[in-house]
Amino acid sequence: MLRTMTDAPFSMFQNEIYFRGIAGERPALPMTFDDLQAAAEKVMSEEAYGYVAGSAGSEGTAAANRAAFDRWRILPRMLRGVATRTMRTSVLGTAMPAPVMLGPVGVQGIVHPDAELAVARAASALGLPFCLSTVSSYSLEEVAEAAGDGPRWFQLYWPKDVSVRQSLLKRAEAAGYGAIVVTLDTIMLAWRPRDLRTGYLPFLQRQGLANYFTDPAFQSGLAKPVEDDPMAAVGHWIGMFGNPEATWEDLVDLRADTSLPMLVKGILDPEDARRAIDCGVDGIVVSNHGGRQVDGSIAALDALPRVVEAVGGAVPVLLDSGVRGGSDIAKAVCLGAAAVLIARPWVYGLGIAGEEGVRHVLRCVLAELDLTMALSGRISVEELNREMLVPAP
Ligand code: FNR
Repeated sequence: MLRTMTDAPFSMFQNEIYFRGIAGERPALPMTFDDLQAAAEKVMSEEAYGYVAGSAGSEGTAAANRAAFDRWRILPRMLRGVATRTMRTSVLGTAMPAPVMLGPVGVQGIVHPDAELAVARAASALGLPFCLSTVSSYSLEEVAEAAGDGPRWFQLYWPKDVSVRQSLLKRAEAAGYGAIVVTLDTIMLAWRPRDLRTGYLPFLQRQGLANYFTDPAFQSGLAKPVEDDPMAAVGHWIGMFGNPEATWEDLVDLRADTSLPMLVKGILDPEDARRAIDCGVDGIVVSNHGGRQVDGSIAALDALPRVVEAVGGAVPVLLDSGVRGGSDIAKAVCLGAAAVLIARPWVYGLGIAGEEGVRHVLRCVLAELDLTMALSGRISVEELNREMLVPAP
């Protein structure tokens, strides 16, 4: 399927910038990940910046995620007639203008007051699907309203309390979320030195709990309304957030709680991918949570090819962790990812300039992906395959 009139000419973003440059105008927002991160550090509180930028332990997993991308090099092909291209694709019934989604990022209120509302608006304006976190600063209904017709998925942190989990899933269905992403790698929080240094866990300060505090099943477990005794409400949340007891058998029950497509996030071992499919899930997200959970873990991109092979096309496999720009996305798709979730880059954009900052980062990523495809001689997502990559010497 080639580009139609409705396709956004993503690479035109660079022309726009250069033409403005003729009049002496320079982009107000950063153009690289490192510059985004540096600008975000200047405007965010030490605690919030540490929470976003930090990873587990030595932060070696986050570094490994980047190193894994560098070990694959693109082998561009010439003279293939690439003037007309499309990046369009579709995953589990969700159409997207490129194999790109915004990954689940909790507690965005610590980054910017408009938080998930700004992100939903920015993503929806470009037609990109976003995945809302369970621990969001606005309720899933408020975010759905901000998104309008924009495609959206809901990420579930699997609460111990069955009535709360079922209520969250029903609410997500009613609010037009198109799939459920169950995060499996956060049955408890990891050892995160940056947050330990500042003694900072935003949830204990009542941040990121909007979905729980507005939930009838959650509220029915409280002796007093949330506003009358907020710390008791936080305590109730602490009691149900983590679910270290969960096993694969429990996933079968969870799967039965919703008619929406269900993906599991945090898979790195091919055997776990197979088990998840046996439990009835419809998709896999290969992820190490951006290095935020297990220090010294395998890089997500290194895990991807083996998971893709084990899955054998039975369900779509997505990837996140370490994706910074268009060529990273191209590499992940070449290695078998149906789509790629990005997170920290647009979180920094949110911190710097709210909705406009998120939109800017997304436009940069999409332009770079489009140009990477064109300059590599590819005109569609289907043409992003292993032939396009070579291992770095
Ligand atoms: C996350 N991530 C995350 N994942 C999830 O399933 N639910 C969540 O609520 C959150 N919250 C969250 C907050 C912050 C501040 C960050 C940085 C990340 C993990 C996220 O979805 C994704 O797996 C990683 O961020 C990918 O790594 P990079 O590419 O952002 O480094």
